[in-house]
Amino acid sequence: MLNSRSKALHRTLDLLRQPPRRPDIGQGFLDLLPDEPSEASMRVQRLWTTSTGVQMYTRIYDLPSALTPPWLRDIHGRLELAPGDTVLDLGSGPGNISRMLSRQVGDEGLVVGVDISRPMLQRAVTSTDADNVVFTRGDATSVAFADGVFDAVCCVAMLQLVPDPSPVYDEIARVLAPGGRATIITTGRAGTLLRPVTTLLEWASQARMFGPDEIPDALAQRGLTSIRSRTIGLFEVVHARKPR
Ligand SMILES: C[S@@+](CC[C@H](N)C(=O)[O-])C[C@H]1O[C@@H](n2cnc3c(N)ncnc32)[C@H](O)[C@@H]1O
Repeated sequence: MLNSRSKALHRTLDLLRQPPRRPDIGQGFLDLLPDEPSEASMRVQRLWTTSTGVQMYTRIYDLPSALTPPWLRDIHGRLELAPGDTVLDLGSGPGNISRMLSRQVGDEGLVVGVDISRPMLQRAVTSTDADNVVFTRGDATSVAFADGVFDAVCCVAMLQLVPDPSPVYDEIARVLAPGGRATIITTGRAGTLLRPVTTLLEWASQARMFGPDEIPDALAQRGLTSIRSRTIGLFEVVHARKPR
């Protein structure tokens, strides 16, 4: 549990543009947002701000790990994580990805989760006992961290919930250190066979479905290089690097 003496908390505060004079950690996460954001404007995101939605979502992770797709299981490999790395998990939800990545960066490393939903953060906090993970309440469209402070950024199953993803691309490019790596996994407009499914999902959930070039083009415009992307079923998986 986060406390004022926690080394990980102090390392996280050091990464902020303007560390708060009195950090709010009363709920076990570092609260960096002044108010309830108006973000819960889409049906899907509203779900993630309720306890029922959180419970539903965490059940997915109760499925046998053999059912986890390899491209998700191998996210740390894609991010080329090494012990001591500092990682940002944007839209960290119940913290599953943060916990997975924390094992790769070791005691000297740090994983910082950012999520906008208190119920998700509460679940993340109660499910995590790793000393090298800190969850923060924040908005991925305007993160509180300084430029170039993260070796890697991942953003899994979040981008589709943001009405305008442009500021999220800006923030990923900004907070990555030179040589830093980014992985984005989100929903994509599937090929012809699955296209009716994605059209229906897009309509029902109001979540965004990305075209195959959309994220790569956006990251390239922000100076990221070595961009690789794949459409896998209903998902877009994109990796990129910030030049040294
Ligand atoms: C579907 S969950 C994914 C959680 C986790 N990345 C995973 O893959 O298990 C999406 C998360 O993104 C969060 N989210 C949505 N919009 C956000 C924003 N603007 N800033 C930060 N988090 C956001 C939601 O609250 C939710 O917890």
